[in-house]
Amino acid sequence: MRVTAVMNSKGGTAKTTTAVTLAALAAQEGRRCLIVDMDKQASATKQLGGSPDNDNLIPGLLGERALASLIQPTSVDDLDLVPGSVALANPSRLVDQIGHHTLLRSALDAVDGYDWVLIDTPGDLAALTIMSLTAATDVLIPISLGTSELDEVPLIQVAISATKKRLNPHLEIAGVVVTKVPVYGRNPAVLLSPFLDQLRKDFPGKVLDTFVRQSVSAMEAHGWRRPLTVHDPDGRIVADYRAVLHALDGAQAVAHAG
Ligand SMILES: Nc1ncnc2c1ncn2[C@@H]1O[C@H](COP(=O)(O)OP(=O)(O)O)[C@@H](O)[C@H]1O
Ligand SMILES: [Mg+2]
Repeated sequence: MRVTAVMNSKGGTAKTTTAVTLAALAAQEGRRCLIVDMDKQASATKQLGGSPDNDNLIPGLLGERALASLIQPTSVDDLDLVPGSVALANPSRLVDQIGHHTLLRSALDAVDGYDWVLIDTPGDLAALTIMSLTAATDVLIPISLGTSELDEVPLIQVAISATKKRLNPHLEIAGVVVTKVPVYGRNPAVLLSPFLDQLRKDFPGKVLDTFVRQSVSAMEAHGWRRPLTVHDPDGRIVADYRAVLHALDGAQAVAHAG
């Protein structure tokens, strides 16, 4: 089962928007998808119409109850959700466990029937993010356009390489996707080129050529608590994410050929 952690050490880089939109688009194409919301803010849960009062997520991670029993359907066909929980704000019950980084991986071992599981992570490098990387087969990194975002790159790289070395040797980088690219002003290439040049040096062969433009519908969808595929199905941001989905599929096909 493919398990993709959508991560960045920072908040606000469109992790949740990316996870929910890609999962909804893949579901529309007939793949059975599951989002596991590991963020205490539970934005993915809210966008999918769920409520973040999941008292059972911590017991589900501890193996006191089956994670599968926490799965809820969403308004999107073929897209299910393990809702987030405000209780994740205090993960001490989890991190007190020996080997706590493997808790989500163990909990997901007993979940099947999905083509693609996407884990939405909190936007830091604390235990729940590392737990998500440990449970994943691959990691997708949304980076929003800006120089302060580039400052995060070494931190992201260390988190991924240390997780690979110590916890999850098969973890792959599925891709780096640039988000929130402004569409106003001069030729976007003027703005993008230096950023992309640096990013391509940092993540050779991993930066997707297709990127996600800034769009007010992303903010509206947040407010309306619905996925972009429902809020603005014909909008440019959904078209951008469809291209991202296909670029990721292509990259995965190449990586797994031969
Ligand atoms: N392409 C985009 N254009 C404009 N705003 C965006 C875009 N993607 C996300 N946003 C907005 O940026 C904020 C953070 O997005 P979110 O997906 O919650 O990021 P994260 O999960 O990384 O914190 C939200 O208000 C969201 O609506
Ligand atoms: Mg988020």
